[in-house]
Amino acid sequence: MADRPYTLLSCGMSIDGYLDSSGDERLMLSNDADLDRVDEVRAGCDAILVGATTVRNDNPRLLVRCPERRLHRVTRGLEPSPVKVTVTCGADLDPASRFFTTGEAEKLVYCPTPVLARARSRLGASATVVDGGPRVSMTAVATDLAARGVERLMVEGGGTIHTQFLAEDAADELQLVVAPFFVGDSRARRFVGDGPFPFRPGRPATLAEVRRIGEVVLLRYALSERFEESA
Ligand SMILES: NC(=O)c1ccc[n+]([C@@H]2O[C@H](COP(=O)([O-])OP(=O)(O)OC[C@H]3O[C@@H](n4cnc5c(N)ncnc54)[C@H](OP(=O)(O)O)[C@@H]3O)[C@@H](O)[C@H]2O)c1
Repeated sequence: MADRPYTLLSCGMSIDGYLDSSGDERLMLSNDADLDRVDEVRAGCDAILVGATTVRNDNPRLLVRCPERRLHRVTRGLEPSPVKVTVTCGADLDPASRFFTTGEAEKLVYCPTPVLARARSRLGASATVVDGGPRVSMTAVATDLAARGVERLMVEGGGTIHTQFLAEDAADELQLVVAPFFVGDSRARRFVGDGPFPFRPGRPATLAEVRRIGEVVLLRYALSERFEESA
């Protein structure tokens, strides 16, 4: 068994690198064809991870939408949609949010040890709350997920989470979709913050594919030697 799952970061951003607007309304950075592509990628994974702010702001279901793909998973002995995973420092998550209330598969919440009791009392009926140690690292989360049988992990943001996976060199692939507009507002969340990223001019990531999907473009980067060409 590998130390960590094959880890694929998936993200949509504006031309100027924003994940969202600064307002309350969710910014659409994708089109129907790309959403369908993302659905297929989801269907091929064992777990999907998002940060707690994404759970709070977007209230996502994180389910496989296409009935045929759901059925195909079931015929393979899997739940219709992957396990859902989030991380939190404050445990300020609503058990009534869709992350917890939708989907048959397990929900996992990683938090630092000092928050464990609070997280279990708030979320313990809706999810498995996991002790992430004094400080939760993405590498440790991924290692724990591998021990739970997760072989393919899809990370769907937000920026804080992508930053850590990249800075820890804990990802194998990046699927970056660029929408054809600017946000131009530094109050909005960028794809990544500052970090000691391993992919620098002297050690660039490998551009594995460029695919036009209507008016958006998918850039696939290989981030490790485990990169799988056919995704
Ligand atoms: N365009 C896209 O593809 C896409 C995808 C997803 C999200 N988004 C957007 O991204 C925005 C959110 O991004 P974000 O960067 O602000 O937040 P985020 O990455 O979704 O979540 C950050 C939160 O996750 C928890 N967290 C992160 N690292 C942790 C660690 N090491 N240990 C414990 N907990 C940790 C903390 O939760 P607590 O605050 O609970 O402690 C932290 O505040 C939203 O506006 C959303 O719409 C866009």
